[in-house]
Amino acid sequence: MRLEHVRLADFRNYASLEFAPAQGLNVFVGPNAQGKSNLLEALAMLGTGKSFRAHRESELIRTGSERAEIGGEARIAAGEVRLRCTLTTTPAGTRKTFAVNGGSVGFARFLGRTRVVTFVPADLQLASGGPSLRRAFLNGALAQLSPVYYRDLALYGKIVQQKAALLRGAIAADRELLLAYNDELVRPARALIAARRAFAAELSEATGAMYARWRGARERLTLTYAANPEGDVAEALAAQLDAEVRRRATLVGPHRDDLRLLVDGKPLAAFGSQGQQRTAVLALKVAEYDVMRARSGEAPILLLDDVLSELDAERAGGFLGAVEGFEQAFLTTTDLPRDLGAAATWSIRAAALTPC
Ligand SMILES: Nc1ncnc2c1ncn2[C@@H]1O[C@H](COP(=O)(O)OP(=O)(O)O)[C@@H](O)[C@H]1O
Ligand SMILES: [Mg+2]
Repeated sequence: MRLEHVRLADFRNYASLEFAPAQGLNVFVGPNAQGKSNLLEALAMLGTGKSFRAHRESELIRTGSERAEIGGEARIAAGEVRLRCTLTTTPAGTRKTFAVNGGSVGFARFLGRTRVVTFVPADLQLASGGPSLRRAFLNGALAQLSPVYYRDLALYGKIVQQKAALLRGAIAADRELLLAYNDELVRPARALIAARRAFAAELSEATGAMYARWRGARERLTLTYAANPEGDVAEALAAQLDAEVRRRATLVGPHRDDLRLLVDGKPLAAFGSQGQQRTAVLALKVAEYDVMRARSGEAPILLLDDVLSELDAERAGGFLGAVEGFEQAFLTTTDLPRDLGAAATWSIRAAALTPC
C-alpha cells in the first residue's frame, strides 16, 4: 500500500501542507525543529489514528488554531481510499473524528485502512526498557491488523481501569463488584493472550532469522511471550482476588505480561551488550514489517524517524536492505546520507517542503 496524496491543515507546526509522495523511498532532510518528525507523526496517524509521541492530543493542533486536519489518499489492495482525521478543541477537551471516503466512521473502522510500521529513536529501548514498551509494540501491530483485537483491547483496558479504581478506593472494595469485573475480564483477556501468543511465535521466527543474519549463527535470538498468568485466566483471577484486595492493585491479566527477548536463552535486557540490544531491535522491526505483510497480504508503509543518525552506517544500510521490497517508506534525517536510492527527497524548513 502507499500514500499518493497528503494534506495537513493546522497540524503541529504546519499551517497548511499538500504533497504527493513517491512510490519507494521518500526522504525528508532538514535541520532540527523544522517539522520532520511532525510530518511522520501525521502520516502514522493516518494508519493508527494515534500519535506515536504526543502525551496530550491538544499538542497536535497548531498553536493558535482550534482544529487540525490530516488527510490522505492511499492506494491499497482494495483500491483507492480517502482518509481524514480531524482534531478539534472543545470545552470538554480535544475531540478526534475520522472519515473514510468522505463518510464519518468510528475509530475502529478507521484504524488499519493503511498500515504503518514506525521506527523512532524511542524504539531503541524496546530490548532494554520495561515490559510496557513491548506490550505497546504488540498492541500497535495487532490493532492495525485486526479490528477485533482492537475492540478486545479497548474493552479489556476499560474494565481493568474500573477494577483498579475500585481496588484503590478509600473504602474496602465490594467483593461482588470485583467478581463481576473479573467475569467480564475473562473473555477479552483470553482473546488478547491468544492473539499475542500467536503473533509472538511468528515474530520470534522472523526476528531470530534476521538477528542471525547480522550477528552470525553462533548467537540465537528468541522471543517468548510471557503471559500473566501462565495458566488459565479465570482460575488465576479467582486465586489472586484476596491478594488484589490486600495490595489494592490488579495483579493478573495481560496488562501485566511481557514479550521476552532472549539471546541463547538469557534475557537480553539484563545480559545483552548495547550492540546486541540494538541489533535485536532492528531485527524485531524488520520482523514486525514482514509478519504484518505476510498476514495482511500487503506491504505496510514504513516510517523511519531519525533512526539512521542513531545507528552506525553499517547497521542503517543493513536495516534498509533487510526490509526488502517495501512499497513505500518515509525517512527523516538531518544529514542526507550517501546514496540511499531515494525515489524522492524533500528539504523541510519551517514546515515547508521543497523538492531537492
Ligand atoms: N502544536 C504546535 N503548534 C505549533 N508548533 C508546534 C506544535 N507542536 C510542535 N510544534 C513545533 O514543531 C517543531 C518541532 O518539529 P519536529 O517535527 O519535532 O522537528 P524535527 O524537524 O526536528 O523533527 C518545534 O519548533 C515545535 O515548537
Ligand atoms: Mg525529529
